[in-house]
Amino acid sequence: ANVSDADLLADPAMKILSVGVTPHPSIPLPANLYGEERINSAGLDLADAQQLEAIVHAMTKVPSVKLPPASNPAAVAKAIGVAHAAFPAWDATPVAERAACLDRLADLMEAQRDELMALCVDEAKKTIPDSIAEVREAVDFCRYYAARARVDFATIALPGPTGERNELHLAGRGVFACIAPWNFPLAIFVGQVVAALVAGNTVVAKPAPQTPRVAAYAVALAKQAGIPDGALQLVIGGAEAGAALTGDARVMGVAFTGSTGTARAIARSLLDDETRPLVPLIAETGGLNAMIVDSTALPEQVVVDVVTSAFRSAGQRCSALRLLLLQEDIADKTLEMLAGAMDTLTVGAPGDPRTDVGPVIDKAAHDKLEAYRQSMKSRWIHTTSVPPEGNFVAPTAIRLDKISDMTSEWFGPLLHVVTWKAGTLDATIAAINASGYGLTMGLHSRIASTSERVQSLARVGNLYINRSMIGAVVGSQPFGGEGLSGTGFKAGGPHYLLRFATERTVSIDT
Ligand code: NAD
Ligand code: ALA
Repeated sequence: ANVSDADLLADPAMKILSVGVTPHPSIPLPANLYGEERINSAGLDLADAQQLEAIVHAMTKVPSVKLPPASNPAAVAKAIGVAHAAFPAWDATPVAERAACLDRLADLMEAQRDELMALCVDEAKKTIPDSIAEVREAVDFCRYYAARARVDFATIALPGPTGERNELHLAGRGVFACIAPWNFPLAIFVGQVVAALVAGNTVVAKPAPQTPRVAAYAVALAKQAGIPDGALQLVIGGAEAGAALTGDARVMGVAFTGSTGTARAIARSLLDDETRPLVPLIAETGGLNAMIVDSTALPEQVVVDVVTSAFRSAGQRCSALRLLLLQEDIADKTLEMLAGAMDTLTVGAPGDPRTDVGPVIDKAAHDKLEAYRQSMKSRWIHTTSVPPEGNFVAPTAIRLDKISDMTSEWFGPLLHVVTWKAGTLDATIAAINASGYGLTMGLHSRIASTSERVQSLARVGNLYINRSMIGAVVGSQPFGGEGLSGTGFKAGGPHYLLRFATERTVSIDT
């Protein structure tokens, strides 16, 4: 018989078992979460000429940031030592006080929105709308995890059938290594760090080598917000500093966001030393993200959502659309409209408010993407023009014969297109799943049964139906993948903080 949890709990015979079993506590979302697309709620309206002028001017005032010297392995070991010594006191700090630090950090980031945005434009080459989104998401992470921690970290009283008192506590694990990518230099960097801190851990944080200034500025604000010096250590550098960090046996957990290959290297390093404690690796990695479009979809909406998903942020989002799967019957018409829409994109300097697509992060990324783009020239469906100087990669749509021809995550504004025949939906989804990646997927269809079928078969962390595939909102669209795309739990979701904590049961004979 089908018996739901609710039926079980309502059954008087289940009373003993159900004592202390409560639904997962949900929290009302903090009222002041922004969400990426609600631009006006960030106190900034780019459609207002005066505000736009002010913000463009503010982008020219990039704060100067004093960086610590690049960390060699000895400096990394020293930072871990400091964080290790600071752990007992920080873990013993009541969760309400730790959460208050996050709320204060959110306030400080809001107050210094323009400075943070200017750094994102200058260092990470983000467009102005993307820089606003960075600040908003970082603020949202702080407020959401603060609210979540106040609920999640409360002691749970458990039944004591033989008379003792039983309690379940969550505590920090020790020193957490937080390793961030360059593509969300503020939001992901801050999100990892504050999650680890509010759970009671101390942190050694390593931003990507491309974006240390944004991170150093955020760390300074975190200290101003009341995070003790020892509890948050910043190390600067690339793979060498990262490897020194994850290879240290005093590190009791790793939060990593970046490529799947680096996640594998970290996983290996955590197991190298047989005497080392077993520690969690929270890895959020890449994806080969597909959007399925059938013949019932609204073409205008499809085109807008494809352009946003594939080309916004110059395609440098893990969530970005890489593979557009068009039902054969509508392919020609959709591609014609897509080409028209691509021609309206302005590719240009990140601080210019007219820019839709900025440069990619650096010359190395540019050269790699451009070499691939040129190698696919015979398959171009459409491409756009770009300024002659700078690391610009032209938004380009590229035809492939079949889904399995897409084998790498090309982290730029390159959209691959494959057609599929009516009646092959299941096989199409199976081919997407076969890549092993499972981050985002999109569907455009007006048929309810197609939507249900995709929901039941798609092996992805975030499925977007009849909308764009980027811009997950903290607390509303917990974000993260499965398979080669990540371990979970999802950032900005109700279970994320638990991965950073250890559980302790205390039984007291009364
Ligand atoms: P990356 O893997 O090259 O670097 C990420 C971080 O790992 C950097 O700080 C880097 O210095 C560090 N690192 C490199 N080698 C290391 C090692 N051996 N040990 C420890 N640390 C090491 O990735 P990237 O180019 O900075 O970022 C782009 C990638 O990140 C893309 O694949 C993208 O899909 C992914 N990403 C995923 C998410 C998500 O939430 N799933 C979000 C953003 C980016
Ligand atoms: N949170 C980012 C997005 O959804 C990765 O685009």
